[in-house]
Amino acid sequence: MCGIIGFTGYTEAKKVLIDGLTALEYRGYDSAGIAFYEGGSINTIKTTGKVAALTDKIAALNTSAEDTGSTCGIGHTRWATHGGVTDTNAHPHTAGKVTLIHNGIIENYRELEIRLKEEGRIPISQTDTEIAALLLDSLYEGDALKAIKQAVELIEGAYAFCILFADQPEVIYSLRNSSPLVACHAKEGSIIASDMVALIDYSKDYFVVPEMHVVILKKDKIILTDLDGNLVCPRILHVNWDMTAAKKGGYPHFMLKEIHEQPDSLRNTILPRIQNKLPDFTADAIPDSLFDGITRIVITACGTAMHAGLIGRVMLEKLLRLPVTVEVASEFRYQDPIIDKNTLVITISQSGETADTLAALKLSRERGASTLSIVNVKGSSIARESDYVLYTHAGPEIAVASTKAYTAQLACLYLLAFRFAYATGKLEKEACMEEMQQLLNVIPALEETLSQDKIIEEISRQLKEKEDLFFIGRGLDYALSCEGSIKLKEISYIHSEAYAAGELKHGTLSLVTEGVPVVALATQQKVYAKMISNIREVKARDAFVILITISGQKAEPSIYDYHIVLPEIKDEYAPFLAAVILQLLAYYTSLHRGLNVDQPRNLAKSVTVE
Ligand code: M6R
Repeated sequence: MCGIIGFTGYTEAKKVLIDGLTALEYRGYDSAGIAFYEGGSINTIKTTGKVAALTDKIAALNTSAEDTGSTCGIGHTRWATHGGVTDTNAHPHTAGKVTLIHNGIIENYRELEIRLKEEGRIPISQTDTEIAALLLDSLYEGDALKAIKQAVELIEGAYAFCILFADQPEVIYSLRNSSPLVACHAKEGSIIASDMVALIDYSKDYFVVPEMHVVILKKDKIILTDLDGNLVCPRILHVNWDMTAAKKGGYPHFMLKEIHEQPDSLRNTILPRIQNKLPDFTADAIPDSLFDGITRIVITACGTAMHAGLIGRVMLEKLLRLPVTVEVASEFRYQDPIIDKNTLVITISQSGETADTLAALKLSRERGASTLSIVNVKGSSIARESDYVLYTHAGPEIAVASTKAYTAQLACLYLLAFRFAYATGKLEKEACMEEMQQLLNVIPALEETLSQDKIIEEISRQLKEKEDLFFIGRGLDYALSCEGSIKLKEISYIHSEAYAAGELKHGTLSLVTEGVPVVALATQQKVYAKMISNIREVKARDAFVILITISGQKAEPSIYDYHIVLPEIKDEYAPFLAAVILQLLAYYTSLHRGLNVDQPRNLAKSVTVE
């Protein structure tokens, strides 16, 4: 959470910072601020609200964002953790010679605060970040590296900092522990930020800042050192997308654009991994020996990524006949999980930075499990911590609600399940080839599904005044219901719940009364008749039923109010198509309620705090 950026170079810093913050705004949007060297001192401008509010404030102060006066500064867009959303709590924070911005949480800030207060250093905000500024200032005697090293020994928690020292003009110091930071040097100067989207206008080559290393940004170069000041050579990575991928491209919202990008994102994720009609991870450097001796699989992730895991579990268990469990990453390490060297732990994350997922991964490694992650962001912490990585090639996902990353995660899980089954002799070559063809068939079918836009928009109009909604399904449809439910509540603020259809009558059916919407997923042939009975149960209570089936499945009009028919596809692949319907349903419902689709309240895209 929170987006940070630092720039020092040969062009106007304020413009680089504001552009960068605009690109990073999906990471947090409670308040925003910048600090920059100008006329021999550091000036700070910050405000509650979005980056647009900051731009207005800059303009009102008669300081143009394109003022050429400053060529070095830092910027922050906040997702509040400690202290309310106020101007004072907005970053940057200054203490003496130190001005800094921070992404993360300083866990022992109370303890540090007591110590600093005893020295007469009194914070004016309620943030943990200001404590870090006060601490660093108390340790700074002109040697920035020395002060940073001493501060790091005292600070516990997750952090990425960009720091200006008043007596070192045009230089930015940066370091991180867990929270993400990437940096690049370009002809305009040196830039560092939480995410590549803020850098891509300047360079496609960048490096991920290693944890507990210090980055010193100067106009003409970037110096990377360890905490003892030893020079370290950064490992340069290259992104294969450009800024158009991180812009709306004519769509009114990122979410809608990203929903429509799913055929491409699936193509990019699946095609390179099918060789000679079989799933193949040679280019990913994932050997079949990974599957040797595996007796159990644990999938761990958060939110939508965890829901992808629920679908993956069904596929893996069915093909491998091995126990597969899906664990919420935030609970994982507190449950003393049973994992050993014969366990394969699969972590799933779009950002690759989710703190709970990262912690679950680290614990799994400590306990000797083999680890594989399914990640969208190249070089992210989760990717780097895993034994093996399967990248989803979904491109940057900017909307807070995850869409294209979810279906790309499903694709990776399917490829993995089929390769595992084939490599261990549980699936014949011909059968595996046939399944790969089915997986490829998903892409045109998904394109066709996207054309149902209009009917979904119409249904959403009926939902906009509702307060509660249920998603029901069986098997894969239940797993998908969980995803439909989070998507809807996340951006429409309508309360919803996902229920295994057969479970409703054990309590929750009492909430289903006249007009209560029930989205009934009935794409699975094996349980179709049972599912229809469950739909009758809710219809008998006068629910407003939105039925989703596959083409060819018969349904009496008396059991539904709306019927969405998906293109014909094998049951196992239906989640890809139905997911798109549920994404569009959430999108249009949010839109009709007049809400901020891409940046829902209280949330942020990348959850780097536990
Ligand atoms: O970056 P990650 O995939 O690890 O993020 C996990 C969740 O925070 C994320 O999927 C969240 O649930 C989405 N906003 C849901 O749309």
